[in-house]
Amino acid sequence: MIKQAIIPLAGLGTRLLPLTSVFAKELLPINGKPGIEYILEECVDAGIQEIIFIISKKKKIIKDYFYSDTFYKKIIKKKSDPRIIKEYKKILRFKKMIKFVYQEKPLGTGDAVLRTKKFIKDDFFLMLLPDDLIIKKNCSKSMINIHNQYKSSVMASMKVNKNEVSRWGIYKLGKKVNKNNYQIKDVIEKPKIKKAPSNKAVIGRYILPKKIFSKLENQKPGKGGEIHITDAIQSLIFDNEKFIAHDFLGKYLDCGSMNGYIKSSLEIGKS
Ligand code: UTP
Repeated sequence: MIKQAIIPLAGLGTRLLPLTSVFAKELLPINGKPGIEYILEECVDAGIQEIIFIISKKKKIIKDYFYSDTFYKKIIKKKSDPRIIKEYKKILRFKKMIKFVYQEKPLGTGDAVLRTKKFIKDDFFLMLLPDDLIIKKNCSKSMINIHNQYKSSVMASMKVNKNEVSRWGIYKLGKKVNKNNYQIKDVIEKPKIKKAPSNKAVIGRYILPKKIFSKLENQKPGKGGEIHITDAIQSLIFDNEKFIAHDFLGKYLDCGSMNGYIKSSLEIGKS
């Protein structure tokens, strides 16, 4: 059973500057609801019981969003608006599930994951990257089912444009497990077009083994001087750890760039 999820939120969000110089992009509304709530709903619906947020001091506003009890209590006392009461109850439910850990410097996704080491209880956990929304089908839930069946690590996968491979973690396909699932032979972070082993990218949903922490502890910075989770995954694959790529059935929305964010709002608005 996968009961814990982690969500790295300590990045700089440079693609959404200037907004992100003062605000956390994960709280930006998508069709009236903060992006992070879509991710939390996906977790809850997939049976996750505890969620670990990795934030930085600059992202403290995310913690404040879930810890505004005094504010809500005062407002509700003055004005018993059913909408406000409903929203407060929802926030309280999420708050009970969330733990916060801090990443001091944005050294990369791998370093962010390492901050959660002492909180992970089971052999496997789920990781979701909040810029990647997947709607219409619960990707985490499908991945947990695959994990339960094959007892392996799982990553969400999607075909991308050949000339865009250098934006993604690209993997090398191994043998087909069944209709939408493949074994992974290798994964490379942001490869040049010529070096890409395929045009299949890893999207921000991962079921990772606890073993990844010992890889991360010894990992040197990779592309762009950052400690990438992809490099630790590659190292585990080379040690024969089984990773399955899952071609998810939902619709992918990229909320990490301004263009993507605008399109996501329009797409969710019409569904
Ligand atoms: P990205 O590097 O894709 O996004 O990190 P970013 O840093 O948020 O934004 P850009 O690229 O500068 O526009 C993927 C995820 O990992 C988190 C980010 O918050 C994001 O959710 N992250 C990244 C960390 O938590 N710590 C890091 O050191 C780096």
